[in-house]
Amino acid sequence: MPLFKTIRINNDTTIFLWKITEDYNELFCQVSLKDTSLARMEKMKSESHQKGFLSIRMLLQHCGYNDFDLIYDKLGKPHLKDGKHISISHSFDFSAIALSNQNIGIDIEQVKEKVLRIAPRFMEMWHLENLSEVDQMKKATVIWGTKEAIFKIKNEVGISFPDHIFEKPFSLSDKKCKAELHFNSCIENFDVSFEEAENYILVCASHS
Ligand SMILES: CC(C)(COP(=O)(O)OP(=O)(O)OC[C@H]1O[C@@H](n2cnc3c(N)ncnc32)[C@H](O)[C@@H]1OP(=O)(O)O)[C@@H](O)C(=O)NCCC(=O)NCCS
Repeated sequence: MPLFKTIRINNDTTIFLWKITEDYNELFCQVSLKDTSLARMEKMKSESHQKGFLSIRMLLQHCGYNDFDLIYDKLGKPHLKDGKHISISHSFDFSAIALSNQNIGIDIEQVKEKVLRIAPRFMEMWHLENLSEVDQMKKATVIWGTKEAIFKIKNEVGISFPDHIFEKPFSLSDKKCKAELHFNSCIENFDVSFEEAENYILVCASHS
């Protein structure tokens, strides 16, 4: 499938979502890759991961960029050579890029029961009170995605999801929330928006 959805977050930020319905060869034939990217992709163990990687290049090409415009820093954060901010996420059937004039982070996650088993390790459990099990799964996935997205903005070693990132009370129907990072004796505020795409949740964070 070509582009699945374009989501305009605000004047600065747009997210492009790809639903991966193609097989590996179909994607591979349509993208140009640097030698280093080809080598990296060949080392990936699963075809699903390779298709995620290739579909990100399809999204870049859709937006007028290509693999040669993308560079990674030593911690793995992607940057575009023209200075526009980019964040990348992929998960099984979907991949997404956000392009922005600000430093942004995105995360796409499949909603799975497992998130409730691991929730006490990464979030404050009061967020899940008085919700059905399905809504608990969705909300815990939003909170996980929020922490991943903020981590991707900051790109700093030592950030702990349960100890340093806190979400304010919110409802799933709000489609947005606020979060704080308490780290290195500073408090930073973030605006978070989220939405569902089939059985996935896409989260986008930026500094308030
Ligand atoms: C790096 C990390 C953010 C990737 O997230 P993920 O959900 O596993 O995978 P996603 O598909 O959403 O994101 C992967 C993309 O994030 C980007 N990324 C990787 N490292 C990054 C970093 N340090 N900063 C910003 N973006 C980064 C890359 O673009 C990568 O895709 P690509 O290499 O194919 O281009 C994640 O693995 C991580 O390290 N999280 C923090 C660790 C942590 O604290 N975990 C839980 C503690 S309770």
